Amino acid sequence: MKNILITGGAGFIGSRLCEKLHEKGYNITVLDNLSQQIHGSVESSLFKKIKGKSTFIKGDVRNKEDWSRAIKGQDAVVHLAAETGTGQSMYEIEKYNDVNIMGTAYLLEILANSTHSVKKIIVASSRAIYGEGKYNCKVHGDKYPLQRKEKDMEKGEFNPKCDICNLELNLLSTDEESKIHPSSIYGINKQQQEQMVMLMGDSLGIPTVAFRYQNVYGPGQSLSNPYTGILSIFSTRILNGNNLDIYEDGLESRDFVYVDDVVEATILGIEKEQANGEVFNIGSGVATTVKEVAESLKKFYNSDINISISGKYRLADIRHNYADLNKVKTLLGFTPKYNFQKGIAEFVSWVKTQEVMEDKYEKSVQELKDKGLMK
Ligand SMILES: NC(=O)c1ccc[n+]([C@@H]2O[C@H](COP(=O)([O-])OP(=O)(O)OC[C@H]3O[C@@H](n4cnc5c(N)ncnc54)[C@H](O)[C@@H]3O)[C@@H](O)[C@H]2O)c1
Ligand SMILES: [Zn+2]
Repeated sequence: MKNILITGGAGFIGSRLCEKLHEKGYNITVLDNLSQQIHGSVESSLFKKIKGKSTFIKGDVRNKEDWSRAIKGQDAVVHLAAETGTGQSMYEIEKYNDVNIMGTAYLLEILANSTHSVKKIIVASSRAIYGEGKYNCKVHGDKYPLQRKEKDMEKGEFNPKCDICNLELNLLSTDEESKIHPSSIYGINKQQQEQMVMLMGDSLGIPTVAFRYQNVYGPGQSLSNPYTGILSIFSTRILNGNNLDIYEDGLESRDFVYVDDVVEATILGIEKEQANGEVFNIGSGVATTVKEVAESLKKFYNSDINISISGKYRLADIRHNYADLNKVKTLLGFTPKYNFQKGIAEFVSWVKTQEVMEDKYEKSVQELKDKGLMK
């Protein structure tokens, strides 16, 4: 395994992966359309990172010829190119399906119908396929709650409840066997993408691995994209002197995983045979509340902005989701090296070297409101 194609290799995760694989002596080709939402209109710092470390093909995964050109001579394909905004996916449905599903269909179409050299496929799935995480009811056992009820949220009762006895559920870590029930078009896209690739890999006899990444953060995450990456969005707000308005009671949580950990796990997936045919959660294995994220960032930037916990809510939001890492530990020997405090320190010192971006967050919230996707 020497030649590796990374689609979306100019992006946040892809560019770091490209750097690491280049260091390890692999020949990297990147297929990326340098989407404006991520890269802006001038040459982005992400793109500069991979220049000279990869053969760059500016192309689109929605174009079969671009795929054909990029796939020539490759031993492995790491498919990362995607549209990634959860909220945005709820009104740009056609584009999300096109890039995330059709973009993957072309890859599989080529592998199924032409001679090629691909011996491994890695696909970036997401924790978004699980929707709400895994819980337990003392009486009724494991539960995968559906969307929370407006009448509970109105009263400030944000924790999911048992559908049978209505008692508050206890949070558990989400393992790979957990119920898949995405709560966004993006999540549905990722589920379909993962299943298409795993199924076709199996029937074509090409070893295939899917990684369900949790919330990835770290240097390189777009600071101008208001649609994804809570640490980046909060950072840009704070550095513009704008207050943070936190939904619910601030105790909703996510699993934040540092980009270098994600890259390390992905490389294990490329190199280890034990990964073949498997899906893995990749996260930090720890739930961190949104309130803690906001407070930590405020402290790191030494800022005096105001953090308010508004009790506002969006019905489609999940309450919690954090990864059970037992499978990836056992099969691939992966354990994350960065806890949240260490990762956030690295992230913030990188942000401080970057130009302060325009804060487009309020505009993105307004878009959701205008479309009736947010009350
Ligand atoms: N960052 C996260 O928290 C996270 C979590 C779970 C899963 N993922 C998945 O990991 C992958 C990489 O995510 P990321 O955070 O690096 O995203 P990113 O947006 O930084 O990178 C994606 C790259 O794909 C490129 N791209 C977009 N549309 C394209 C198209 N039509 N043709 C070619 N290239 C295109 C973009 O220009 C960008 O360089 C995605 O598949 C995403 O769904 C990310
Ligand atoms: Zn119960």
